[in-house]
Amino acid sequence: MTARVLVVGGGGREHAIAWKLARSPGVGEIVCAPGNPGLAELAECVPVPVSDLDGLVRLATDRKVDLVVIGPEDPLAAGLADQLDAAGIAVFGHTAAAARIESSKSWSKEVMAAAGIPTARSLVATDVASGRRAIAEIGGDGPVVIKADGLAAGKGVVVSGDRAEAESALASFFNEGAPGQTVVIEERLTGPEVSILLLTDGETVRMLPPSCDHKRAFDGDQGPNTGGMGVYTPTARVDAALLARIEETIVRPAVREMARRGTPLRGVLYPGLMLTADGPKVIEFNCRFGDPETQVVLPTTVGDLGAWAMAVANGTLAATPMPTGSGAAVGIALASGGYPGTYETGFPIRGLEDTAADPDVIVFHAGTRRAGSGEIVTAGGRVLTVVGLGPDLVTAHARAYEAADRITFAGKMMRTDIAAAEVAVR
Ligand code: AMP
Ligand code: GLY
Repeated sequence: MTARVLVVGGGGREHAIAWKLARSPGVGEIVCAPGNPGLAELAECVPVPVSDLDGLVRLATDRKVDLVVIGPEDPLAAGLADQLDAAGIAVFGHTAAAARIESSKSWSKEVMAAAGIPTARSLVATDVASGRRAIAEIGGDGPVVIKADGLAAGKGVVVSGDRAEAESALASFFNEGAPGQTVVIEERLTGPEVSILLLTDGETVRMLPPSCDHKRAFDGDQGPNTGGMGVYTPTARVDAALLARIEETIVRPAVREMARRGTPLRGVLYPGLMLTADGPKVIEFNCRFGDPETQVVLPTTVGDLGAWAMAVANGTLAATPMPTGSGAAVGIALASGGYPGTYETGFPIRGLEDTAADPDVIVFHAGTRRAGSGEIVTAGGRVLTVVGLGPDLVTAHARAYEAADRITFAGKMMRTDIAAAEVAVR
């Protein structure tokens, strides 16, 4: 039997998910909501926004899909998976209760403490007075990190250098925040960061290849935080022994603790880690595929995503093969000038046909749309992720930049040092 799958979302991550699903022998047809012009080459795109949960359940029912794969965190936190469960539709994606591992940082910290998972020491504050006490207790006069409790699309974190800076950041959190806001004050960790993605059905775990994101806007890790300007896999920062240690000390305890609480995971768990002098520690847990990590991790994962996703939905992941990584991939985000601040859109994108013919390059669409003229134009901050593939990082890096240079649009912005620390060229 070949399955009909609905992919929820319309970014580079969902394009990569659909690209991998399209290579699954068991997947016959892919529907995507809302999708984008890149996805439209692999899937039927239906313009239902990810915020329209009833509309998405209706679409899944009307099209009699066999499985729904949910990309972004917002519909998970809003309860899309719960609604699909109620409608009897198989789903790869956590219930709202389980998605709290990402949607509430304070709750996630509580899970980590209960499970003995290594992470930054932290305190929760609900007003300025308790916040000031927490800053003093965690950081003394030195650095601390302040995080808004809820989903903030990467914008809810302030890393402060000293107590004065932390106190002024705290004041603006509470001034700008809604009443009843909660913030987490935590110890500042230091070390290289890595992204670990894994699949779980609530019990069994399937680790995917580790990757490294580049979150700052400009070369040399300067400028504001973004959704991710580039990414690569594999990384010498995580060898097989360290990956096994991460699975034992971080991943399995989290999966067990979530099940013990009656909120088992069912989808992706993505711990963002810092490799400190005391070993790997959790910066945050995300409850979905990383963006742009997915755009390099799935093309270098050998195995059948459709089979894994169905097994996650059905609780039979233990019966599926282990994923293995093969080769390397480097992904360069092409962004609109001004991102992550304000930027203009609607500029024609040139060079896409050229790269489409290259078997060692994949261009995943994020912020694009098809204009009335039929042309593909820019439509968002991050426009494309250009992925170069190769047997090793050096080759993948060269192919990625060669292709990224061939694609042009007005105001195009990209970092020129993606993977450079591990490639030592350019
Ligand atoms: P997040 O929005 O949680 O992904 O955090 C954004 C970035 O803030 C992370 O990628 C880290 O670089 C930084 N960060 C978050 N928590 C800490 C911490 N406890 N220590 C140092 N840096 C942190
Ligand atoms: N790569 C950052 C994220 O997906 O949150």
